[in-house]
Amino acid sequence: MNKAIIIGATSGIGNELAKILVQNGYIVGITGRRKTELLKLKNSHPNNYVISSFDCTSENNSKKLSELTDQIGGLDLLILSSGTGDLNEDLDFETEHKTNLLNVNAFTEIVDWTFNYFKKQENGHLVAISSIAGIRGGRIAPAYNASKAYQINYLEGLRQKATKTKKPIYVTDIRPGFVDTDMAKGEGQFWVATKEKASRQIFGIIKRKKGVGYVTKRWWIIAKLLRLIPNGIYKKM
Ligand SMILES: NC(=O)c1ccc[n+]([C@@H]2O[C@H](COP(=O)([O-])OP(=O)(O)OC[C@H]3O[C@@H](n4cnc5c(N)ncnc54)[C@H](OP(=O)(O)O)[C@@H]3O)[C@@H](O)[C@H]2O)c1
Repeated sequence: MNKAIIIGATSGIGNELAKILVQNGYIVGITGRRKTELLKLKNSHPNNYVISSFDCTSENNSKKLSELTDQIGGLDLLILSSGTGDLNEDLDFETEHKTNLLNVNAFTEIVDWTFNYFKKQENGHLVAISSIAGIRGGRIAPAYNASKAYQINYLEGLRQKATKTKKPIYVTDIRPGFVDTDMAKGEGQFWVATKEKASRQIFGIIKRKKGVGYVTKRWWIIAKLLRLIPNGIYKKM
């Protein structure tokens, strides 16, 4: 049986992906701070889920991941879906700091631990959910955009490292547009996907072991357009 861990399985995309993995025969280690939500998953398929409830910004993530991996009996796939970000037009530092603690610091610890685990094992698949927001800066939630740019860039570095190993180690960067979860904040949303549809597409990208995947698919057009907007125009938007 394949073994997977989902960081951030209590709601949204991570929660849906947990259900899809179990439907596909995985044993899944599920994490998040809200233990009641993890218990709901566990109760639906008691033999397929193992719970580890912790806050990625305050606990020793590496130790927690090692313990959970032992509990599920190995690791083939890790999906990092935990993320945060708030609208912060007034640049309240605590808001920015909170975002960076999870999306940058905890992210780095988790992907590094996972990459090193797979390198030692000589195979494995790391998947992280970044965002279309990481393509350009953003005045509405500056730390969110910047932290997602960090994730995109970091994952690219890990993909280079994976290639150098010449082993079947894969690193996938999922870049969603808008998905109908608690994270989707602010006005002017469009092409909003249900979490079910987004997660189905993400699972397809995982199966194909793609390096980068836009969700839903047509968001690659927005990514391309965002890159094409000249700086002189973008700064007025
Ligand atoms: N929804 C969108 O429109 C959208 C678009 C682009 C990218 N994304 C990205 O997709 C990923 C998943 O988000 P989502 O849309 O599924 O939103 P969500 O439903 O709010 O899920 C966020 C997950 O992160 C976990 N989390 C938050 N803070 C945490 C912490 N300190 N420690 C551990 N876990 C923590 C939450 O669990 P607990 O609260 O239980 O800890 C939850 O499971 C995020 O990285 C987000 O940036 C979302």
